[in-house]
Amino acid sequence: MPTLNNPELLRNQAFINNEWFESKSTKTFKVYDPATGEEIIELPDLLPEEIDYAIKVTADAFQTYRHSSAYDRSKWCRNMFDLMTENIEDLATILTWENGKPLAEATGEIKYSASFFEWYAEEGKRVYGSTIQPSNQNNKIITLKQPVGPVGLLCPFNFPSAMGARKAAPALAVGCTTLLKPDAQVPLSSLALGYLAKKAGFPAGVFNVILSSNESTPAAGLKICESPSIKKISFTGSTAVGKILMKQSSSTLKKLSFELGGNAPIIVFNDADIDKAVDQSILSKFRSLGQTCVCANRLYVQSKVYDEFVKKFSAKVEAFKIGNGFDKEVTHSCLIHDRAVAKVVEHVEDAIAKGAKYAVKGGKLPDLGENFYAPTVLTDVTQDMKVSKEETFGPLAAVIKFEERDEALTFANDSEFGLAAYVFTENVNTAWYMGEKLEAGMVAVNVGVFTDAALPFGGVKESGFGREGSLYGMDDYTVVKSIILGDVYS
Ligand code: SIN
Repeated sequence: MPTLNNPELLRNQAFINNEWFESKSTKTFKVYDPATGEEIIELPDLLPEEIDYAIKVTADAFQTYRHSSAYDRSKWCRNMFDLMTENIEDLATILTWENGKPLAEATGEIKYSASFFEWYAEEGKRVYGSTIQPSNQNNKIITLKQPVGPVGLLCPFNFPSAMGARKAAPALAVGCTTLLKPDAQVPLSSLALGYLAKKAGFPAGVFNVILSSNESTPAAGLKICESPSIKKISFTGSTAVGKILMKQSSSTLKKLSFELGGNAPIIVFNDADIDKAVDQSILSKFRSLGQTCVCANRLYVQSKVYDEFVKKFSAKVEAFKIGNGFDKEVTHSCLIHDRAVAKVVEHVEDAIAKGAKYAVKGGKLPDLGENFYAPTVLTDVTQDMKVSKEETFGPLAAVIKFEERDEALTFANDSEFGLAAYVFTENVNTAWYMGEKLEAGMVAVNVGVFTDAALPFGGVKESGFGREGSLYGMDDYTVVKSIILGDVYS
């Protein structure tokens, strides 16, 4: 069992109204270490009326918090950044423990997570309105950006700290109060944020974390969607669940931001710097072992460099050291659960049956644990295979050959998803052409990992809408109010 410098960061209760909440629920759920299968902790599965209470607390706190000064909110966000930085070792340990990702990657995630509080501590002071020239000289039009209201933040398993922070930091900076529901598999990083938020100075009721088991999550989600008090939902997760939440939110016409599934293509042109393309593709494909929404899912490589790319890429994959994320030597660890492993196996088997070939065989690693899978690299992949159509969300790299620029473009855009796309080329015209024509919310040129608090992160098509991070991410938590002064010259 890992040890913490500050054991108080590991919590076993929901965080509501700046207190550790005494649930009356007799139902509990357990959080397991995905690497060892061992139980970490048992948590209360909040009762429906307790979710209602948390919504009420969030809504009541908004009435005061909305009028707090931007400078106070900025200070609390900055304190949060400082506290996360001071506690980085413990926060990374908790993250690796519940999610499995290697400790170095977890440490990177905590830095990334904290950077949202740092960035919005600054940007929150710059919520500007405008004065607008009216068609009628006698009127004046002034706009204010006001906080949208109490918000529900529904978070996924793959970034247990950063996804909550990416949603909460802009919301808190502009004066929204927040109700965060972490994924039942990884709630501990969010509870640790609750502990730090109180220390950072956020008033009671402003940052709340509720707890629901996998079984109770749909009912908890429904309550948040249908509550007239919650004015916006930000959700990161699958497109299928996004569609359900959208329907459920329609009765209250909530503002929504959805960051949903992806199926990111990487396109490597003949003129690319191949070593760079290989290194960056490895980072993109295998970050969190393929479990990020922006991980490359399909690698399109132009014919003249195809063989060289596959050889160099495969050699790097074979050099991975797979094991428990707490082992310092380990480069890549486990998937979140056995269903994630099964999906990789399904995509590999489908591709092989349809004619793909192994460049690196990979496969399950039962000696390490049931959630371990050594990465597979496939060549001779075609557009009709599952791996080309669906997001694998795991360590399978599918390499597809193409001849002409527009062929790659057509392949890449042949998807209902449009989150991230990557292009490797030394030709600026190709970079610009692809940047404009790829149907994705984010196009990265010559780089495999690009996320940043300053970046507008989000998708198009069935990858969702709304942006997180950057000034646009803050806009998503505000509404524009117009004030019209009439008859000013009378
Ligand atoms: C995600 O997978 O949703 C987030 C990835 C990132 O922020 O880089």
